[in-house]
Amino acid sequence: MHFSNKLCDHLKIVKDIKHLKTLIRDIKSKNQLIGFVPTMGSLHSGHLSLIKESIHENDITICSIYVNPTQFNDPVDFSTYPRENNIDIELLQSLDCDIVFLPIDQEMYPEDNNIINYDYSDHMNILEGEKRPGHFLGVVTIVHKFFNLINPDRAYFGEKDYQQLWLIKLFTKTFQLPIEIKGCKTIRDTNGLALSSRNKNLTTQQQEHARSLFLALDSFRHAIKKTIHIDHKNFIDLKDKIILQCLSHLSIKLDYFEVIEDESFRFVNEIKNDQKYRILIAAYVGGVRLIDNMLIE
Ligand code: PAJ
Repeated sequence: MHFSNKLCDHLKIVKDIKHLKTLIRDIKSKNQLIGFVPTMGSLHSGHLSLIKESIHENDITICSIYVNPTQFNDPVDFSTYPRENNIDIELLQSLDCDIVFLPIDQEMYPEDNNIINYDYSDHMNILEGEKRPGHFLGVVTIVHKFFNLINPDRAYFGEKDYQQLWLIKLFTKTFQLPIEIKGCKTIRDTNGLALSSRNKNLTTQQQEHARSLFLALDSFRHAIKKTIHIDHKNFIDLKDKIILQCLSHLSIKLDYFEVIEDESFRFVNEIKNDQKYRILIAAYVGGVRLIDNMLIE
């Protein structure tokens, strides 16, 4: 039983692995279930929804905040990535999260212990992986390190980063890790824009334009839901039409707009109505790169 009073400073702030391990040993000795939410901080309601779900389903919730250098292929993106640890800690305190882990680079990447080479090239080198070489090796490496240190029972990831969620499920399965990976729905603002830490780098006007990503996904989904079968030609025409209608503003530079089979993560170029698909989009708005996706059932 723990206190839920914020003034009790219930949240433990952990900065080194030794301290973390002591706490984990104690939690495990009490047979308490651990829910883990890895983040890069600058927390918004999307992150908080994952933390709330973990608090609801587990005895102890651990959130990590670490801007992982190995998953950034663009040094400017890394240096401008928002960092707001003090505000984040207050937010976690107000939610009654149990532990926040704020590691430093030297501990997460000691010498001779950098990137692990996972062989998921088919899925790591397409879409986000193609546009951001090395990104997913960095993501899976750091998540694997966290899983080893924390041994959570459940770990929470947002559908917002769908390819990331899919790869983490895959690697957890191939390594037979006894961790349940929970995918949580994308939280959006009232205009449909998916919440993202990078939205902080958008001007108010760019935020308006960024809404077009959601509009493009939603228009495509609506068009598809109305028909039973879309052949290759109509599929291409529909994609072109929606890109032209929703994404042709000067401040938007489209990176990709693709449809995959939801389960296999295989590209498709026609639609049959008995399958689940997912549309994935990435675009620059101003200089800020945003991603989003939507399920078509
Ligand atoms: P970060 O971008 O901080 O996201 C942390 C988690 O929050 C991810 O699982 C992400 O999918 C989820 N998330 C972000 N925006 C969301 C939204 N609008 N709705 C729901 N969930 C959302 O993803 C990472 O960090 C890193 O790659 C990480 C997994 C921590 C590894 O470094």
